[in-house]
Amino acid sequence: MIAPCETAAEIIQTRAGYDQIEFAFILGTGMSHVADGLENAVTIPYADLPGFPGSDISGHDPRLVVGIQEGVRVAYLLGRAHYYEKGDPKAMESALETLAMVGIRSVVITNAAGSVNADMYPGTLVQITDHINFNGMNPLIGNASDGGFVSMTEAYDKRLNKRMKAAAAAAGVGLKEGIYMWFSGPSFETPAEVRMARILGADLLGMSTVPEVIMARRLALHITAVSVVTNFAAGFNNGNPSHAETKEVGMQGSIGLRRLFKSFLKTKDDGWNALNSSASLRRK
Ligand code: HPA
Repeated sequence: MIAPCETAAEIIQTRAGYDQIEFAFILGTGMSHVADGLENAVTIPYADLPGFPGSDISGHDPRLVVGIQEGVRVAYLLGRAHYYEKGDPKAMESALETLAMVGIRSVVITNAAGSVNADMYPGTLVQITDHINFNGMNPLIGNASDGGFVSMTEAYDKRLNKRMKAAAAAAGVGLKEGIYMWFSGPSFETPAEVRMARILGADLLGMSTVPEVIMARRLALHITAVSVVTNFAAGFNNGNPSHAETKEVGMQGSIGLRRLFKSFLKTKDDGWNALNSSASLRRK
């Protein structure tokens, strides 16, 4: 039987071409403008891509856009599926497998997050340096083989993180560093849970990213991740989050993200290119 990711990979390459895609970006709530203005853009609705999340996911019009940004071939995933939608931690598994199958080696993940760190106020961009899987759910449960014992020692790639920091400095975009803690959602946390998160060492709270990073590491994809702080978490600094606020501030934050990512793509990293030059598994 042909796996859905194989069919999806074939559709992407048939429509967008076989040239190496250097980076995929997964965009969080309200951030689709980051992908505006790609050259030679080819848009493929998720509905056309087997294994990609269905049309019921948050964010209208979920789609993949492949194109050129700052001279680099990139893919943007506009819309992601969350664990809280169906209780499925593997919701993004097939999409990630598809990225690996078309030969992408590096993925930039973004999300909207609540902050429990007074220095990370709404609108701040934060590089995720590590995470706490507080949800406890693991997308690799049920992986029959030893392939499930994935190392998470350096889940967020040091080299890509460094490149992102350099890009932030070059573009004059502020980028802090923090620990992201995964809550299942969709309800927001209670103030008591937020106090606990602070004690346990988190800076950011969110409802995505962690299962994606775990699955991506199984696929040996290199990950760097940036949160847009959309609010102070419940009860912290008078935080009282709402989904409307998340969407609104996420959209505002995407202006800085766009500048950051364009700078990231322009930032030279010769060693990385050599490391990253593996051709598509499906390349013809
Ligand atoms: N908590 C969890 N997830 C979030 C929040 C929050 O306060 N804001 C945006 N996503």
